[in-house]
Amino acid sequence: MRSTTGWQAHGTTLRKEPITRRDLRPDDISVRVDFCGVCHTDLHAVRSHDGGVLVPGHEFTGVVIEAGPDVTAFRVGDPVAVGNIVDSCGACDMCAAGQENFCREFPTLTYNGTDRHDGSTTLGGFSREYVVREKFAYRLPSGLDPAAAAPLMCAGITVWEPLRALGVGPGTRVAVAGLGGLGHLAVKLAAAMGAEVSVVSRSAGRAAEAIELGARDVVVSTDPDSTAAARDRFDVLIDTIPVAHDLGPYLKLVAMDGTLSQVGYLGSMTVETMDLLTGRKKLSSGGSGGVAATADMLEFCAGHGITADIELLPSGRVGEALDRLERGDVRHRFVLDLSDLG
Ligand SMILES: NC(=O)c1ccc[n+]([C@@H]2O[C@H](COP(=O)([O-])OP(=O)(O)OC[C@H]3O[C@@H](n4cnc5c(N)ncnc54)[C@H](OP(=O)(O)O)[C@@H]3O)[C@@H](O)[C@H]2O)c1
Ligand SMILES: [Zn+2]
Ligand SMILES: [Zn+2]
Repeated sequence: MRSTTGWQAHGTTLRKEPITRRDLRPDDISVRVDFCGVCHTDLHAVRSHDGGVLVPGHEFTGVVIEAGPDVTAFRVGDPVAVGNIVDSCGACDMCAAGQENFCREFPTLTYNGTDRHDGSTTLGGFSREYVVREKFAYRLPSGLDPAAAAPLMCAGITVWEPLRALGVGPGTRVAVAGLGGLGHLAVKLAAAMGAEVSVVSRSAGRAAEAIELGARDVVVSTDPDSTAAARDRFDVLIDTIPVAHDLGPYLKLVAMDGTLSQVGYLGSMTVETMDLLTGRKKLSSGGSGGVAATADMLEFCAGHGITADIELLPSGRVGEALDRLERGDVRHRFVLDLSDLG
């Protein structure tokens, strides 16, 4: 086993501790983790932690420090990016279709997952070193700032796949609900795809930043006049809201035959079917992305100069990052600099 340091949950807070990584398998690389984004999923995981080993972090960039004998795509010193899935069966129809994220055997999550070979619980990127199968690591295109690119690997790919799957392009009217980590990247990506983008936010005060990110306007979800004016307007609505909520008011914003893709809160929500019936509207979801799609997204971002808007903090301030994320006090993603772990 290899020793490193990580931020491990004790109760509902994190503590710096020694952790171990597996010895490299033939197709593994070891990554020195330089930067890891703080996703709202990490916040959900830490705040609901009730035992068991938990090291969060599932969108990171770094440098290859060792490669197993069968590794062909990477050499020591290569800049890499790793996202929120790190393995899949490779044999099912989903894997064959390049949708490893929907693997029939469930993909191995970057943390809180179960390693397919040794049954151990995976520990995430809030640590200085991560060992990963080369298939699930991506070359970080030159030109992308490694700190600001880290959030592309969860927040970015999670909104990229539905935008692509729903055929977003020039002329598509896209709404993005929730202007957080996922939401601000959805705005940038959809705008770069040529769509007409609007933000649906609780606060009118976010209009200027939404427009700066590439949106045309803001629909204020707490203002009945604003939502009434946007009724039946959007071909695609990407909903990134992190809590259970009534989908009705958001479905009302979707155009006839349009789709609401609910990628934020993952859990039970009730839907009034009349909100789907009226206008033949569709309800969908998504999470993470396949290997090929993730590589495509990184190339697209390099081509369009897209990275996250970040606030970079030393990893020693991870507790502050989680508290501020909980309060919505972030523009638009915290990224931890892991170099303070030695
Ligand atoms: N499907 C997946 O695979 C996947 C991947 C990553 C994350 N997620 C989930 O996606 C969600 C968003 O993650 P994130 O990292 O983007 O979070 P985030 O940075 O906290 O952003 C969420 C945004 O939603 C809005 N919001 C927050 N609380 C709200 C509330 N109570 N009611 C209505 N709107 C609220 C806020 O925007 P406004 O202030 O503009 O209203 C906020 O900026 C989380 O639940 C996360 O677990 C899912
Ligand atoms: Zn995430
Ligand atoms: Zn599979």
